[in-house]
Amino acid sequence: MTYEEVRARFPVLGRVAYLNAGTSGPLAQATLDAIADELRRAGEEGRSGRDYYERTLARRAGVRRRIAAEIGARPEQLALTESTTAGCNVVLAGLDLRPDDEVVITDTEHFGLLGPVIASGAQVRVARLEQATGDAALERLLGEVTSRTRLLAVSHVSWITGHRLDIARLKQASDVPLLVDGAQSVGAIPVDATVADFYTVSGQKWLCGPDATGALFVADPESLRVARPSYHGQKSHDRLAATFEPRPDASRFDTGWIPTPSLAGLEAALEDLPPWRYERAAEIATRCRELLAERFEVVTASGHGTLVSFRPRADPRKTAAHLYERGVVVRDIPDTDLVRVSCGWWTSEDDLRRLIDELTAGNPLE
Ligand SMILES: Cc1ncc(COP(=O)(O)O)c(C=O)c1O
Repeated sequence: MTYEEVRARFPVLGRVAYLNAGTSGPLAQATLDAIADELRRAGEEGRSGRDYYERTLARRAGVRRRIAAEIGARPEQLALTESTTAGCNVVLAGLDLRPDDEVVITDTEHFGLLGPVIASGAQVRVARLEQATGDAALERLLGEVTSRTRLLAVSHVSWITGHRLDIARLKQASDVPLLVDGAQSVGAIPVDATVADFYTVSGQKWLCGPDATGALFVADPESLRVARPSYHGQKSHDRLAATFEPRPDASRFDTGWIPTPSLAGLEAALEDLPPWRYERAAEIATRCRELLAERFEVVTASGHGTLVSFRPRADPRKTAAHLYERGVVVRDIPDTDLVRVSCGWWTSEDDLRRLIDELTAGNPLE
């Protein structure tokens, strides 16, 4: 499986320099075909009948197995969700936090984690990492932990700075339950979710799956109440007694129905992934950083994930919009002066050249 062969799987890459998997990854033709085929069947055969349900359940199992393999977990440790945000909501609701409990987060969390933390009603302590990385970042986080801390909730890779936290060392240093937001890590860097208590997955980003797909790793299902029950999470229920028994494993936290076409698309996206993908993603992110650093202030330190954030000379929102018009897809980070570039294993040197050329040659914004 050569690099050229796998890159050719993604139609969008033939058209634009697509550097925004941190928002939504490129979709492969096989993924699009799998979605279209299931949709066609739904139209022609209807969304009912034994075949349909058995196929859908088999696809749920297939997705669970494949995502688990991707993050070093067992399928029984995984709930299927529609997003990282949904996974965070399951955890924060299930912990039954009280107003005098505390949750420690960092200053660069996405609302997908921040929102559920705030809604939990617990007190939120925000560790100011600023640009700190490595041991300094861990120290600042651990400095916020008190006897009332019920949860540490952090991104593995920050969506703003692109910095990676050493979550294994964080967990070793503190026995507080650890929720990791994996939106910017799963599919981008090697992940062992089992070092955490809870770890979220977004299917639509670096796994290149359809929208509204994802998962939640739960190390011990008994550590969390089922606060958001869905039909797929119950083993049995009694309508008259008004009781239910959750499924024995992490599937008790499944958040609901995922459209069969989306399951088919995600299964296809997770098939046949090149074994060299993480090395190549790291190499091309390093290259991107080097090229940008020759001309701009780059805030992402080297050797982290696959996001590279830098300060453009002009307004970041206008810069991203200008680049988009010129066929280079990146994003600005709201409320900062940063533009963020996402480098996947599919990213080419030519994509990066186009980015640099458009940023430097005759940019009317500069
Ligand atoms: C770090 C981080 N967390 C959470 C999210 C939200 O992801 P989802 O749409 O899967 O809830 C994002 C999306 O950009 C993100 O970057």
